[in-house]
Amino acid sequence: MDKILVLDFGGQYDQLIARRVRAEHVYAEIKPYSAIGAEGIAAAGYKGIIFTGGPNSVYADGAPRVDPAVLKLGIPVLGICYGHQLLAFTEGGNIAPAEGGSEYGKTELYIDDCALFRDVPQESVCWMSHTDQVKLLPPGFRAIARTKNCACAAMANDVRRLYGVQFHPEVTHTEYGTQILRNFIFEICGCRADWVMDDFIESTVARYRAELAGKKVLLALSGGVDSSVAAVLLHRAIGGDLYCVFVDHGLLRKNEGDYVEQTLGGKLGLNIIRVNAKDRFLTRLKGVNEPERKRKIIGEEFIRVFEDEAKKLGRLDLLAQGTIYPDVIESGKGDSAVIKSHHNVGGLPQIMAFEGIVEPLRELFKDEVREVGEKLGIPRELVRRQPFPGPGLAVRVIGEITEAKLELLREADAIFREELDFGLLNAGTDPLQSCAQYFAVLTDTKTVGVMGDARTYGYTLALRAVKTDDFMTAEWARLPYEILERASSRITNEIKGITRVVYDITSKPPATVEWE
Ligand code: XMP
Repeated sequence: MDKILVLDFGGQYDQLIARRVRAEHVYAEIKPYSAIGAEGIAAAGYKGIIFTGGPNSVYADGAPRVDPAVLKLGIPVLGICYGHQLLAFTEGGNIAPAEGGSEYGKTELYIDDCALFRDVPQESVCWMSHTDQVKLLPPGFRAIARTKNCACAAMANDVRRLYGVQFHPEVTHTEYGTQILRNFIFEICGCRADWVMDDFIESTVARYRAELAGKKVLLALSGGVDSSVAAVLLHRAIGGDLYCVFVDHGLLRKNEGDYVEQTLGGKLGLNIIRVNAKDRFLTRLKGVNEPERKRKIIGEEFIRVFEDEAKKLGRLDLLAQGTIYPDVIESGKGDSAVIKSHHNVGGLPQIMAFEGIVEPLRELFKDEVREVGEKLGIPRELVRRQPFPGPGLAVRVIGEITEAKLELLREADAIFREELDFGLLNAGTDPLQSCAQYFAVLTDTKTVGVMGDARTYGYTLALRAVKTDDFMTAEWARLPYEILERASSRITNEIKGITRVVYDITSKPPATVEWE
């Protein structure tokens, strides 16, 4: 199997680059620049190397550098943004701040003939985000593209097959970005397009079978797509040595606990230990309003519950989690800002006495996880389930959480999901195709209503439905009014305590998908 190395210099886009390569059916592996040297790269047999972008200037103190020997291996290299500057710098070129100022966003690109630009028109649009640029080309290189402010928007040493682009071919705003990446991996590196998800499953199972032999692994099973897929994947590798602890924190959706237990435990034969810990969680959440506090408390309580279960199970070596790539980014990777504390990332192994953490899906995007799940034979209705956050309904009950509010939300949420599924299926649309996630939120605003001839005073419920591919950005779903009408009418009629229903028409950004 041909593979490409994505050498990460701290950019935000390493996964996106890997994903674009995998989408071409070529396997891409990401390694931090400090984790692998020229010898390791040569031994691994990569067909090509992509240097990612990064937040630094090559002249900054402690800026990531690359071993010059990597460029002498004879393996083609494509440097992107910082990677492009680093390539020039390492080969003896000069980097300086752009005289015309930084370039950000969509920029006109003019190219010359080059294998990297096969089937790319002479003028197109690329996406830029840089302050520094290559001022003096290194010996043996020629400039192959320019923009208004950047005389070396791309460079090539065709003989040594070393290429650099100042712009980002991996983002969709670069019109011919996919073509440029294709040219690199197929034309220049000579990769064959023969990688499929089955290979990911096979290699992951084989890897964990070897790495985890003789170990007992505890997995935090939430019942969502991610942890279920991670569980089934690891179960394939180590069978009964995987202990799936399913914490029912009392913040699950209607009937969810039983469904998870029956499907994964019953049909798929996983070793599931269900812990009913509702009282513990609700006691700790009493009187807490602040979203980050809620998340922190739930995260901590999870650890305690695991600790208690771990004690009962005896020696457990490792902790497994269904963390996927967007969780990693949103919880702060390197210099990226922390948006929300996703409780399933970080923290756990330091606090608990585990040798380490196992996250088999850490590099995958959601749609890739679903694909793996289906290939593993997990029932379609589970794999195609919409995501559900670890802290559960706690982040969908705004303000203080009480059992009564949870009950209201559970019923309303079930009605909304039922009506949406029914309405869209009836219209011949796959609900998950048109909205990736849809749910209800119980706000802490009470409003006045009228029923019969009497005044009512109850909660305002918000409905949220979003369209997204990867959950990093999302658009509010333009649902048919009939669905909204049926949901609103049923909720206000069938549930005592909700007087008003509103629909959330905010995209992400500026909002997040969840309200808290
Ligand atoms: P946000 O609200 O951050 O949500 O835009 C993006 C996606 O992540 C889910 N989400 C979580 N998933 N643990 C999880 O496993 C969490 O703490 C968490 N918080 C949000 C959210 O439902 C959406 O799918």
